[in-house]
Amino acid sequence: MINVALPKGRLGEKVYGMFAAAGYECPSILENNRRLIFENPASGVRYFWVKPSDVAIYVERGAADVGVAGKDILLEYRPDVYELLDLNIGRCRMAVAAKVGFHDDVEKTLRVATKFTRIAREYYAGLGRDIDIIHLNGSIELAPILGLSDVIVDIVETGKTLLENNLEPVETIVPISARLIANKASFKFNSGRIETIAEGLKGQIKYD
Ligand code: PRP
Repeated sequence: MINVALPKGRLGEKVYGMFAAAGYECPSILENNRRLIFENPASGVRYFWVKPSDVAIYVERGAADVGVAGKDILLEYRPDVYELLDLNIGRCRMAVAAKVGFHDDVEKTLRVATKFTRIAREYYAGLGRDIDIIHLNGSIELAPILGLSDVIVDIVETGKTLLENNLEPVETIVPISARLIANKASFKFNSGRIETIAEGLKGQIKYD
């Protein structure tokens, strides 16, 4: 069995659709229940639904052989895994955003609220800008509104959340999309099967 960690939620359903179309179906996964593990011995795969930000941990530690994780998570946590394929789904960008009309005073330390502290630190270090990181776990958009920070570093997909909170994107840091990742030891011992899965998924990627 190849163990596959799928990110729970809308992205995971798309990912499963790609696996199924590539020949790794497991129909019971679409039944609406609370089970977290599904397997299809005929196609030799076992799927787990995992919190999206935990996929890389399962794969890095070998509890899953492969998985699908956002590039945001890979950049932030740098798990020791192989990144095999850009699936071109879950596309969004990591961006700096601020209140509409915000003017950066470069003489002052910039207060940056984010979940992605490493990405933010590296980005501003590259600019040689002094920052004060404020690590939040959610509702990041509130920080500049309430004066907790000057800017935020967060994921922007449609831009709707920013717009509805009177914020605007200031700078794109990096484009993000979902990636197929593999455990390093599994890849070594099961390279044939994992490469076949990757090839199958490659055939399902939609480019615009
Ligand atoms: C992200 C991000 C924004 C939102 C942006 O949150 O933190 O809140 O998406 O999307 P938009 O540009 O289409 O409005 P996500 O839904 O990933 O959940 P989270 O709050 O758990 O991070």
